[in-house]
Amino acid sequence: MSEKKVDFGYREVEATQKDRLVQEVFHSVASRYDLMNDLMSFGLHHLWKEKLINELRPTADQLLVDVAGGTGDIAHRFIQKGGGKAIVIDANPMMMQYGQDKLIDKGAIIPQIDWQIGNAEDLPLPDNFCDAYSISFGIRNVTNKEKALAEAYRVLKPMGKFVCLELSNIDQSLLSKIYDFYSFKVIPKVGKLVTGDEDAYQYLVESIRRFPSAENFAHMIEESGFEGVKYRKFSFGVVTLHSGIKLGRSN
Ligand SMILES: C[S@@+](CC[C@H](N)C(=O)[O-])C[C@H]1O[C@@H](n2cnc3c(N)ncnc32)[C@H](O)[C@@H]1O
Repeated sequence: MSEKKVDFGYREVEATQKDRLVQEVFHSVASRYDLMNDLMSFGLHHLWKEKLINELRPTADQLLVDVAGGTGDIAHRFIQKGGGKAIVIDANPMMMQYGQDKLIDKGAIIPQIDWQIGNAEDLPLPDNFCDAYSISFGIRNVTNKEKALAEAYRVLKPMGKFVCLELSNIDQSLLSKIYDFYSFKVIPKVGKLVTGDEDAYQYLVESIRRFPSAENFAHMIEESGFEGVKYRKFSFGVVTLHSGIKLGRSN
């Protein structure tokens, strides 16, 4: 029997292969991931992440689970802005190791942050556990996005908040031509110079194009049970921030 196919950038791969391929990408770029983020986004990713944190409105009694948390940017900001505790969950231990080293280098060892290896599709957490769930530039890499959304719903407490930041396609025709040129001609080359891995950044730009539109993704979030789902676009629609609330309890 043939296996289910999923996209890996513009390639179709067997669903069972995608996690491994994604992990190879992040394994390869981990040490230069933060630098590349600064270069590719002209530093704008800091501003977009601030928007996500503002949406969460951190308070000292909140526990945040930051899935696909990578080098821990979101968790760190959440604590700095007054959040109580954060758990970073990522499938790639190397990304988290660089994140921890970065914080140590900055002299910022943060006991309120826990780091755990885990898959967004099968979180190592109990039901009704956290006050907030975030996933920043992570969901487009996940093989089964519906499963990840179901997990987000399961681990949130009633009245818990879901937020998702993701790169998206832009609609305006002139800008989208410039964006396409920048994405396909510039980013992979800069990626090659900085990380030595052009293919990793080719995958990253292709994966943005394969991600559902903001409207369709909002619909998927609603289908997972979330209420009050809304989204906002930033920087001419290059990035979208989705949010929703879990009202009921999971049993
Ligand atoms: C583009 S990075 C984003 C890192 C961080 N959230 C940020 O905003 O800078 C994507 C991260 O998702 C992780 N990842 C990819 N697929 C995953 C999955 N199925 N479960 C958990 N983490 C995953 C990768 O290891 C990588 O660290």
